[in-house]
Amino acid sequence: MYGTLFLLFWLAFVPVDAVKPYLFKKCSESGFCSRNRHFAEEIAKQGDEYQSRYSVDLESLKIDHDGGHLHATLLKMLNDGTFVPLDLHLTTLQDANLRVQVDEVHRSPPVTHVNPKRYNEAWKYALQSEPKAREFTHSVDSEKITLNYNDYVTEIQLHPFKITLLRNNQAQLVLNERNFFNLEHYRTREEQSRENSIHIAPEESTFDSYTDSFKDSRDDKLPFGPESVALDVSFLGAKAVYGIPEHADSLSLKDTSETEPYRLYNVDIFEYETQSKYPMYGSIPFMIGVGGESSAGVFWITGSDTNVDIKKSDSQVQTHWISESGILDIILITEDTPGQVLQSYGKLSGNSVLPNLFSLGYHQSRWNYNDEEDVLGVTAKFDESLIPFDAIWLDIEYTDDKKYFTWQKEAFPDPDRMMRKLDQTGRTLIVIIDPHLKVGYEISDTVIQKKIGILKSDGSDVYHGHSWPGESVWIDSMHPDAQLFWDEQFVNGSNLLGHSTNGHLWNDMNEPSVFNGPETSAPRDLIHYGDWEHRSVHNLWGLTYHEMTYESLIKRNPNLRPFILTRSFYAGSQRTSAMWTGDNSAKWEYLRESIPMVLTMNTVGFPFAGADLAGFFGNPDKDLQVRWYQTGLWYPFFRAHAHIDSRRHEPYVAGEPYTSYMRDAIKLRYKLLPLYYTLFQKNSVSGTPVVSPMAFEYPSDSEVLEMDNQFFVGPLLVKPVTSPDTDKVSIYIPDDKPYYDLQNYTVLQGKGYHDVDAPLDKIPVFIRGGSILITKERYRRSSKLMKNDPYTLYVAPSESAATGELYFDDGETFAYQDGEFVLTTFEFTGNKIVSTVKNSYDTSIIIEKIVVLSDKEVTKATVEQDGESWTAEIVPQDHSFVIRNPKPLVAKSWTITLH
Ligand code: GLC
Repeated sequence: MYGTLFLLFWLAFVPVDAVKPYLFKKCSESGFCSRNRHFAEEIAKQGDEYQSRYSVDLESLKIDHDGGHLHATLLKMLNDGTFVPLDLHLTTLQDANLRVQVDEVHRSPPVTHVNPKRYNEAWKYALQSEPKAREFTHSVDSEKITLNYNDYVTEIQLHPFKITLLRNNQAQLVLNERNFFNLEHYRTREEQSRENSIHIAPEESTFDSYTDSFKDSRDDKLPFGPESVALDVSFLGAKAVYGIPEHADSLSLKDTSETEPYRLYNVDIFEYETQSKYPMYGSIPFMIGVGGESSAGVFWITGSDTNVDIKKSDSQVQTHWISESGILDIILITEDTPGQVLQSYGKLSGNSVLPNLFSLGYHQSRWNYNDEEDVLGVTAKFDESLIPFDAIWLDIEYTDDKKYFTWQKEAFPDPDRMMRKLDQTGRTLIVIIDPHLKVGYEISDTVIQKKIGILKSDGSDVYHGHSWPGESVWIDSMHPDAQLFWDEQFVNGSNLLGHSTNGHLWNDMNEPSVFNGPETSAPRDLIHYGDWEHRSVHNLWGLTYHEMTYESLIKRNPNLRPFILTRSFYAGSQRTSAMWTGDNSAKWEYLRESIPMVLTMNTVGFPFAGADLAGFFGNPDKDLQVRWYQTGLWYPFFRAHAHIDSRRHEPYVAGEPYTSYMRDAIKLRYKLLPLYYTLFQKNSVSGTPVVSPMAFEYPSDSEVLEMDNQFFVGPLLVKPVTSPDTDKVSIYIPDDKPYYDLQNYTVLQGKGYHDVDAPLDKIPVFIRGGSILITKERYRRSSKLMKNDPYTLYVAPSESAATGELYFDDGETFAYQDGEFVLTTFEFTGNKIVSTVKNSYDTSIIIEKIVVLSDKEVTKATVEQDGESWTAEIVPQDHSFVIRNPKPLVAKSWTITLH
């Protein structure tokens, strides 16, 4: 009953047919965005005539070569010729190229309960640690300061202020090339509104500087008035730019000259539209530009509302970054390839945590499974239908009246018992805990009493708003005492997870979603720990919430890798969580959109991403459902989820032949778990994508730069079918290697487009020649039960050679950090297959089958391991032969010779 009540409540705020544009600010309705676009337009109109107001004061230059730091005063000239001093700080970096920071020197507004500084702590969340500086040498002349370090040169032009980054003597990035740099310095309303005020240049606008005229945010007190920071960055030579999620748009970002900018502002966007620049649940302010011979990255480290304009031409991509508040803090990366840029980003922001293996299996969720019987019944149905799955999810209705950390007693009388039963088949339970806490029970009472919630704008008391439970307060996960309180809720034996080790977490609504708040989120003038305004930390707050949960789970069980799914995210979220793309719809266009969205997450170092199968809202028809499973099996995070009003559509419900097609898709994912796990391990150490856009594999092929409907998963080239009534797809082969169909081993060869049959039971996927694919092929009910299963190898040669790699460990603890893992490479050279173990621990897992995709005549295989040798049988097949049961231990090196 409550579910319906609050659903009605929700619907009162957000109508049902599609996203309501009036709920979200357009740039023209947002003070800081509109002012900066206006500023840019005015400057562009003046062209070369424009006299910039920003210059570097050479007198103030302070250099610490060895420490890698340069400080100088950046002068902003006011209308009367006086200057506002800004602090310019450049750091030459070891793991990237350059960091540029600009802050206001004086800022002491008379607001007592708000931190007077510009927010300067976003980097503490975005980066895994303070980036290491490297030494440089420098020279100065009357026009510029030049820094030299390794292959890099940075030129700082004094007037107008401009920074150019060169690598191998080639300019790759230019900051403030178009003079759009703008730091709105502190001035009172009175100072600004005086006649002939010195503070407002003719090219500036004063729109909504001290008030917000957008209808839902008129109460915003804007205590500092205008305080935006904006800058233009040109990617020289770039042909395409990727990144800055989250948007339901193409992988290659579009020119915004005639449209809204891409907006980064974490919001609960109801029934979002596809092909849109609207803000969504999370934001990662990182962009990669790709050209022919070089690639560059821009990491804009700000926690506030941010808009990015993009202008493309033949020779470059120009971007304009506009944030509401905070200091300028930007890290620049220049490299040869986008893969290298991403690796640098990973060194700064941190790579993904190595996931608990179960979380790479298939997840079954819906809002809601109603009670223990329902949960165990669904589990049994999967088993009867021979469909593997790893985790079943409980949405908000499992709680007593949406009071998190409680259970609805009648429906779930003994959660420990239910979890033990799930554990018997290796299944995990994932429960939701949202950050809004219903008023009137001990958890929210404590948050109010200890003042560890997000505070009202005057800082006096905890803020109250509305969400699923009705009136609620929000725990302030930036508060250290909030962490301690959270830890207490998760201790071993807690009300929530009891003593189980197969319980993990879902953190939703952490944008935060506030049903009665402006743009469905928190008012910007609320106060967080440290007296910071919500305005400045908005985009990173969701990360602090799921990181708090991660810490608590680690304390609960220090040797178990926690799994947490978050809806809201920021740069750095990859270190502790997985994400999904929120509330999509059961329509073909959302299936199509899920691919660029997941690919984009892979271009910004957060590969553990997925979309609700087969659409959250609505009821998918059976064809769409099948095609969604055939696509979703490739998402790094593979979960079905559905709205409370939708019909049950677990894969076994559809009936034949659809259920079999979905079973095939899920089983293919289980077969490929060794590949996914190896790719995740690689990502965790070197930041490489798990699902890779074509442009990351072939950056100098201009044909693939805009391509976002096919991709690589390790050696596999995948082209999902995302349109109804289709029985053919056109797939682009990017090189001259043979590509072997994974189902029937037939070969596609020749750079260019090829038509491939794709009836409803077909998943178009090809192994790139030159690769060895490692799989596990036995059906089990869950990944945990596959732990000791033997491996199968597929050798797919190109010019009689192929290589592959395998990583595995216990799949759930941190023992791998003490060296308990197997890492081995495989090499095929025509008549030999050699496995070289790089690291090993004690395990008896063997290789049971090797399929060699070759027409070569082979009659016998000799296996050698540990000084012993034996023979294995060869079975010829179409386009291939099988080495049956060669049985070497996978954890020790071996050689197989073919005769
Ligand atoms: C939000 C989530 C959705 C969830 C619902 C109820 O809409 O995005 O996945 O089912 O809340 O908790």
